[in-house]
Amino acid sequence: MKILVTGGAGYIGSHTVILLIESGYDVVIFDNFSNSSKESVARVENIVQKKIPLIKGDIRNKEDVENIFKAHNIDAVIHFAGLKAVGESVEQPLRYYDNNIYGTLVLCEVMQKYGCKSIVFSSSATVYGDPLSTPITESFPCSATNPYGRSKLFIEEMLQDLYTSDKAWKIVLLRYFNPIGAHESGTIGEDPNGIPNNLMPYITQTAVGKLSCLGVFGDDYDTHDGTGVRDYIHVVDLAEGHIKALEVIDTLEEVLTVNLGTGIGYSVLDMVKAFEEASGKEVPFCIAPRRAGDIAKCYADPSYAKEVLQWEAKKNIVQMCEDSWRWQQNNPNGYKGS
Ligand code: NAD
Ligand code: UFG
Repeated sequence: MKILVTGGAGYIGSHTVILLIESGYDVVIFDNFSNSSKESVARVENIVQKKIPLIKGDIRNKEDVENIFKAHNIDAVIHFAGLKAVGESVEQPLRYYDNNIYGTLVLCEVMQKYGCKSIVFSSSATVYGDPLSTPITESFPCSATNPYGRSKLFIEEMLQDLYTSDKAWKIVLLRYFNPIGAHESGTIGEDPNGIPNNLMPYITQTAVGKLSCLGVFGDDYDTHDGTGVRDYIHVVDLAEGHIKALEVIDTLEEVLTVNLGTGIGYSVLDMVKAFEEASGKEVPFCIAPRRAGDIAKCYADPSYAKEVLQWEAKKNIVQMCEDSWRWQQNNPNGYKGS
């Protein structure tokens, strides 16, 4: 079975490609490298000891996308390609709508034309907006608080409409909670551009001495220690969820929407402590004002994933911190040093 992985050079995509190959799938990676580089794919090839077809192109460019389907017999698409920075999406909404929504539209048009109607889409817990309670099940109401989230929500609805129009489509919407960690080899991982927005890369870059102090965004939330609570999930567990989705995709008789999380919520201060214990490094921090748009608590009810995908997260917070740290220590400048 041949899988097209859009955004396969990125953080989650590169980890998923490893598991796909280890599970016996043929893979074609398609990426415009707007937030990644060929180096991640070279390192994945080194891990799996196999050459992987890699095509540079943009999902918004119909010709680029058609060329893949002409050259390869694609059975299913795992669609990671997209822009993902919440703050940037507020400043540049049109860029996000163009890249994420229009890009997915073009991809689906080409898939339809070439009779490939199976897609696993990277959605996000952000579609739950500010949830009324936790843990969050898939039936919670959805809303968006920023253009990034709105692009995910719209794509989910677009894919649902596509299924309604043609039941031959097989669609899985995976709502990721907060991916962290890295492949245990320490050779691939998350490589944010500039100063990280997300907590774990900020912590690891502080620990390695690139940043001086972690700002903890608010200590007056309604949580056990006042700092924001999230469901951190190891990226390899998340990648495994995609393999499980492919295993059931042919049997689907409706659009399948699944949370990928651990079901455990950790606060910012819990994360700092867990990281310090796992790495033996101190993470200096100071309490800063709340970040606009942040919510107090967000963690999954992961029971549906267990029921329909036979999937559950296996790696604990210590492994997540150790693996994030190994990647950061071995690659203080991410892929840029190579
Ligand atoms: P990433 O930026 O590392 O990977 C995305 C990849 O897509 C990059 O390699 C980028 O170059 C590529 N890309 C972007 N626009 C493209 C385009 N128009 N054409 C071709 N390639 C394009 O991000 P990630 O963390 O691996 O996230 C993957 C997906 O998961 C994204 O859709 C993201 O929104 C979603 N997601 C991520 C998180 C998270 O916290 N990392 C959480 C929820 C959902
Ligand atoms: N935080 C800090 N300091 C920092 C960075 C983050 O205190 O420097 C806090 C935040 O306030 C929040 C927690 O750490 O309480 C996690 O923040 P992240 O930015 O790492 O993650 P978010 O939950 O805000 O958002 C992430 C992705 C979104 C995605 C969402 C759900 O950035 O794109 O997870 O999957 F939608």
